[in-house]
Amino acid sequence: MKKSPAPVSWVEIDLSALGENLRVITARLSAPTQVMAVVKADAYGHGLVPVARELVRLKVGALGVNSVEEGIQVRRRVSSSLPVVVLLGPRVEEAATCLDFQLTPVIYSLPVAQALSREAGKRKIMVRAHLKVDTGMGRLGVVWSDLPEFLQPLRRLKRLQITGLSSHLARADEPGEAYNRLQWQCYEQARRMVEEAGWRLTENHLANSAAAFFRSRTHLHFIRPGIMLYGGSPDGDPQRTRDLNLRPVLALKTRILQIKTLPPRLGVSYGGTYKTSRTERVAVLPVGYANGYSRHLSNQGQVLIGGRRFPVIGRVCMSLIIVRLDDRMECAVGDEAVLLGRQGDEAIQGDTLARQAGTIAYELFCLMGKLNPRIYKK
Ligand SMILES: Cc1ncc(COP(=O)(O)O)c(C=O)c1O
Repeated sequence: MKKSPAPVSWVEIDLSALGENLRVITARLSAPTQVMAVVKADAYGHGLVPVARELVRLKVGALGVNSVEEGIQVRRRVSSSLPVVVLLGPRVEEAATCLDFQLTPVIYSLPVAQALSREAGKRKIMVRAHLKVDTGMGRLGVVWSDLPEFLQPLRRLKRLQITGLSSHLARADEPGEAYNRLQWQCYEQARRMVEEAGWRLTENHLANSAAAFFRSRTHLHFIRPGIMLYGGSPDGDPQRTRDLNLRPVLALKTRILQIKTLPPRLGVSYGGTYKTSRTERVAVLPVGYANGYSRHLSNQGQVLIGGRRFPVIGRVCMSLIIVRLDDRMECAVGDEAVLLGRQGDEAIQGDTLARQAGTIAYELFCLMGKLNPRIYKK
């Protein structure tokens, strides 16, 4: 069989960086807190199975996935025993599957809790679940003021055991923000209510990367870091990423498609939003918004070629961008260009690129990881 040609643009996933970032995170923990590594959304675009395998090898305490579907992938291809928490919770019709694959359900709906208890009854087992309380994020979970009413029918489900209380902070990346304290107080009240209802909580979790970094009080039994594992700053500040020695896991790369000299006063790319001021040497690269390189990076982004930075000029197209070289730059068609990641002594960080694109590193990672072939490095 003929080998297929190398991709024109690709992402490289450096699994050793994942391990280093995990060490940065665990260095701040004290026993008995463990890491529930968040590998939801295909491990933020880094690839669920390879990332989860590496994290299991590094002995994290649990994995957090989005859905039962992601949980099944982990069970079938990664680990038969590590706790796998379904952060979005199973749907009613997934209750049996959730038990079959020994996934830990997050619950916030009575019909789901009833379905889980029913299925557990058929198997003559107990189902261990984490209750999600909305302490002020206004997103998933039982609104904390509805909790007393929610707990009453839950207590009648004899096969259901609440072992963990979960919540999420809305403003953990703003450490001085008083709202964090309010949410913490709500969480503490909710914890007391659940314990008074008779459940022993041994698997509580509240902290994402930002809370884990800024508020050690929220560490509880597990922290749930995502972005820091993938080398992003807990609050989006690129300087903090450098200070903490967090290493980027994902790099977006391509190869020069064409090099040429443009005449003066020529509009470059759609709409001619960049005009050459003199003859200008440019490199055309086969990457664009179809690869997750945001159109907001038009006339904003920078690219590394030969270990040096060059600006993106004109609009980012679907599968092409244009980069202004200088007259001294020696490069050739086929040379590697780095849009995100390191080349030589230079690096383009996810947080920096995200700011230029008016978004967050999470979104760039998810898109770039999904839209490009992935190559894994150890
Ligand atoms: C419920 C939950 N926990 C943890 C995380 C991880 O957050 P971060 O990537 O900011 O560490 C997320 C991410 O969005 C989440 O939704």
